[in-house]
Amino acid sequence: MESKVRITSGEGGIKHLYVHVPFCPKICPYCSFYKEASDRNRTQAFLDAVLLELDSAPYLQPTTIFFGGGTPSALSTRQLAYLINGLRELLDLSELQEWTIEMNPATVSEEKARLLRSLGINRVSMGVQAWQPELLDRLGRVHSAAQALRSYEILRSAGFENVNLDLIFGIPGQTAEQWRESLLQTIELGPEHISAYCLTYEEDTEYFLRLGAGEFVQDAGRDAELFEQTMDTLEQHGYSQYEISNYARPGKECLHNLAYWTGKEYLGLGPSAFSTVASRRWQNVPNTPDYIKRVRESGSACLCNEIITPDIHRAEKVVFGLRTNTGIPEELVEPWRQPIGELVTEGFVERNAGRIRLSRSGRMVADAIGEMFV
Ligand SMILES: C[S@@+](CC[C@H](N)C(=O)[O-])C[C@H]1O[C@@H](n2cnc3c(N)ncnc32)[C@H](O)[C@@H]1O
Ligand code: SF4
Repeated sequence: MESKVRITSGEGGIKHLYVHVPFCPKICPYCSFYKEASDRNRTQAFLDAVLLELDSAPYLQPTTIFFGGGTPSALSTRQLAYLINGLRELLDLSELQEWTIEMNPATVSEEKARLLRSLGINRVSMGVQAWQPELLDRLGRVHSAAQALRSYEILRSAGFENVNLDLIFGIPGQTAEQWRESLLQTIELGPEHISAYCLTYEEDTEYFLRLGAGEFVQDAGRDAELFEQTMDTLEQHGYSQYEISNYARPGKECLHNLAYWTGKEYLGLGPSAFSTVASRRWQNVPNTPDYIKRVRESGSACLCNEIITPDIHRAEKVVFGLRTNTGIPEELVEPWRQPIGELVTEGFVERNAGRIRLSRSGRMVADAIGEMFV
């Protein structure tokens, strides 16, 4: 394949690349990411489409690459080698600092972990969610707690020195004691990074229907308590909260996510992936067969286009930046001087040395505060 991605070292280009792999070993009933059960007949066509899409893409010289999903590790070792080698041929990786892959514990093997490490992947984000069998069962997870532990050990033995573990709190029936156990068991393993998400009932999920049917009950007060417990426990053990749901050892923040939150340009490949380049944002069609067809026909699967005006760009920088521990320069919120002043008075936003960010109590209501700016 002749490359159309013209890159000259030092000349710039898009610095952040996302690849969406839509396959999962089993569909979890709470998840609204675009995904489908793994389908062997479609995988090779998908991989070729991703490489073709990149071959037609704009100017790129990544410092970060993120394989997300779905479950990228649902690809076989051979398929991952094909995809990564294909990307390596098309990209100038001389400035690459971080290459992350999301993995489900049920899809980790020694051979796969070694191959990923040898091909330059240097960060793994693994979805553990909980350590209690009954909660894993309630979440419809495909793996056991023992398998998550074994997979973590495999990743360490393969040489991964930058590992994130995902956890979920607010699971129906989960007690504060169980959440404490999950946090402590995770901390004991010593990952460099922990993402702790509050369960959200997303509209197009089975969990949403079960909530509507009265099987589950949402309890904002309990979720707030678990969130407090999360911040306290992780901070006590040396994990700094650098964004609402993300905690890291010093220097181990996820560079790729920081790029999103600080409004950098990024290119997304694969079905449903978003891109933001040169004041334009678009999304690829969230349907794998359609994605493959469109890329084969035109090199692109772009579904819709939005112009990111300077006002939208500023509002997004405020919404995402306020959620980070470094916050944003105060002059960015000039158009919202009065509501920000009120949030400071009410203790939801804090000022320090010309920068502002959400306070601890502000982090509890971050989504509601974010809506003020959009
Ligand atoms: C795309 S998944 C990544 C990994 C892999 N697919 C897995 O599940 O192991 C990203 C993470 O999003 C979180 N997540 C997904 N749906 C969620 C929801 N409805 N509420 C809270 N967290 C959610 C989970 O912690 C999950 O690990
Ligand atoms: S949580 Fe992960 S494994 Fe489960 S359906 Fe979503 S992407 Fe797939």
